Amino acid sequence: MLAAYTELKNAEKVKIYLVKKKILDNHHLPVKEFGKIYFPLIKNIKVQNAEIVNTRFSFPENERPLTIDELLKDTLTKKELGLLPRSQEIVGEIMILEIPESLQDKEKLIAEAYLKTNKNIKTVVKKDEFHSGIYRTRKVRVLAGKRSKETIHHENGVKIKLHLEKTYFSARSGNERLRIAKQVKNKEEILVMFSGAAPYPLVLAKNSSAKMIYGVELNLLAHQYALGNVYLNNLNDKIAIFHGDVRKIIPKIKKNFDRIVMPLPKTGEEFLDIALRKAKKNTIIHLYAFLEEKEINKYALKIKKICTGLKHPVEVLRKVKCGQFSPGTFRVCFDLKVLK
Ligand SMILES: C[S@@+](CC[C@H](N)C(=O)[O-])C[C@H]1O[C@@H](n2cnc3c(N)ncnc32)[C@H](O)[C@@H]1O
Repeated sequence: MLAAYTELKNAEKVKIYLVKKKILDNHHLPVKEFGKIYFPLIKNIKVQNAEIVNTRFSFPENERPLTIDELLKDTLTKKELGLLPRSQEIVGEIMILEIPESLQDKEKLIAEAYLKTNKNIKTVVKKDEFHSGIYRTRKVRVLAGKRSKETIHHENGVKIKLHLEKTYFSARSGNERLRIAKQVKNKEEILVMFSGAAPYPLVLAKNSSAKMIYGVELNLLAHQYALGNVYLNNLNDKIAIFHGDVRKIIPKIKKNFDRIVMPLPKTGEEFLDIALRKAKKNTIIHLYAFLEEKEINKYALKIKKICTGLKHPVEVLRKVKCGQFSPGTFRVCFDLKVLK
């Protein structure tokens, strides 16, 4: 096999040169022998400080998956490569590709390349629209791999089965779910309003010593996934999921809660009356909102005013930025303590 052969002391210098000239064979690993190193090559050119030889041995295969930059180096320019976001969202076996408008004519090639970077990814899709409507769902389009939009996502010790178009789900909220779980005290009874496919109930049940968690979801398809997920994780004795509008269902649950989670960032505050009716002194409420930095304190005051008006004043314990909705707009969680 074609190789550049040099003393070990020159190895770094030679490697940098080969990478720069794009002639290093990335599918194979270099071989060291008696103080010398052989770099596998794809082309025969003159290399400073090295001799080009045809080896009698073959090089070991490089098992490391190639990086996206390596895979796309002949398809995209350096500038175009720089436009690709450095982290893409992965839900179970599906990657949700985000690429700028200017690269749309190369989206299939880019998707095929991402498929090769990680053997756990079986499908690459692209968002066709933002989450919208009362169910906060969206359309996605398969660009590469298996033509499936259903997957099982593994997070914080639980399995969450979902369909990308039938239910809202964000893998990027995994740390936030764990943050809430870590606050839960022994034997708490928790209400998760807007529970979707049940990621919050599952993560709280698995990672805390809560006594019971109740979830309420309007979207029938999401609710069905939630029921399946409770069963899949063997958490039937810790989670009860109800289908319907929180305004109709919650008054029928005859109890007050130690903790109430409200993950409906666009209009969550409109449901504070329902939540507060099921709160008691010292109940903790986690209310989410999408806000720009400059709006966060104003929103906290607005929440305090609403709650006082509803005769359940609250203290704002924390304002936690736990995600980004768009450049400059954050997903913020307000941890509230009900004072009476
Ligand atoms: C942003 S999603 C969050 C879903 C889930 N908690 C999660 O984090 O993946 C909001 C959810 O609230 C549900 N929803 C909206 N209005 C509702 C209502 N009035 N009663 C019950 N659920 C509602 C939507 O169908 C959607 O699944």
